[in-house]
Amino acid sequence: MTSLLKINNISKSFIKDSKKVDVLNKVSFHVKKGEFLSIVGPSGCGKSTLLGLIGGFEEYDEGNIFFKEEEILGPSPNRIMVFQEFNQLFPWQTVLKNVLFPLNINKTEIQLDNRIELAKHYLQMVKLEGYENYYPHELSGGMKQRTAIARALAMKPEILLMDEPFGSLDIETRTQLQSILIELWKEIKATIIFVTHDIEEAVVLSDRIIVMGKSPTSIRDTIVNNLDRPRDRLSTGFIEKVKEIYDKVKE
Ligand SMILES: Nc1ncnc2c1ncn2[C@@H]1O[C@H](COP(=O)(O)OP(=O)(O)O)[C@@H](O)[C@H]1O
Ligand SMILES: [Mg+2]
Repeated sequence: MTSLLKINNISKSFIKDSKKVDVLNKVSFHVKKGEFLSIVGPSGCGKSTLLGLIGGFEEYDEGNIFFKEEEILGPSPNRIMVFQEFNQLFPWQTVLKNVLFPLNINKTEIQLDNRIELAKHYLQMVKLEGYENYYPHELSGGMKQRTAIARALAMKPEILLMDEPFGSLDIETRTQLQSILIELWKEIKATIIFVTHDIEEAVVLSDRIIVMGKSPTSIRDTIVNNLDRPRDRLSTGFIEKVKEIYDKVKE
């Protein structure tokens, strides 16, 4: 299968207190269409920076990133990001209007009635039917994240970039959202890059896991995860896979 995204020898540094801080050092990997890829690594190793580069929000110093054979030079509705923070919704707009907002800007070829239907459909897919007229402050953290995911998916991005989206959730809600995300991924055949510091979460979700080391980073290892889905966290294969990745992170 051809690669949807090609990251070739990317380096990135920031200037901090007038000193150059190297964050990413010659990072390379490819992502196939339809793949679910996770990235794990210690705090501060450059995971968010890497997603920002793929999203087109940051410029890289060296190397290049190709998305469908075109170099990434800025943001695009084809590459949408979901963040960890619960405050990524507009507080003054209802759940429905939050999901509609990017559709109204980017999908004007779709009639308004159909845009509303689309937004409702994705809210239903994340199990938020009945909450269309709620405001963000009336929602739990998990419901806010589901709204953010519905908003991203309704745009039908070719690649979804998720930066620790479940990182601030309790374990029960997190497990529930992992299942919802996998269902959505299968249904819409999405391509997802998912950053997490939770190794178990990476094993539950992804086809492949990239392990990054301490900054300035290149990739430490890439682990293929062919465990059958739905994945059983208590199976020997699952536990062995978690240990394999844990050992790589620890190295
Ligand atoms: N805009 C920025 N300006 C200066 N330094 C930054 C900026 N963004 C990130 N950094 C630095 O880059 C490093 C990697 O950050 P980040 O990508 O957020 O790591 P992670 O997501 O893996 O925790 C950190 O040392 C951070 O302070
Ligand atoms: Mg981060």
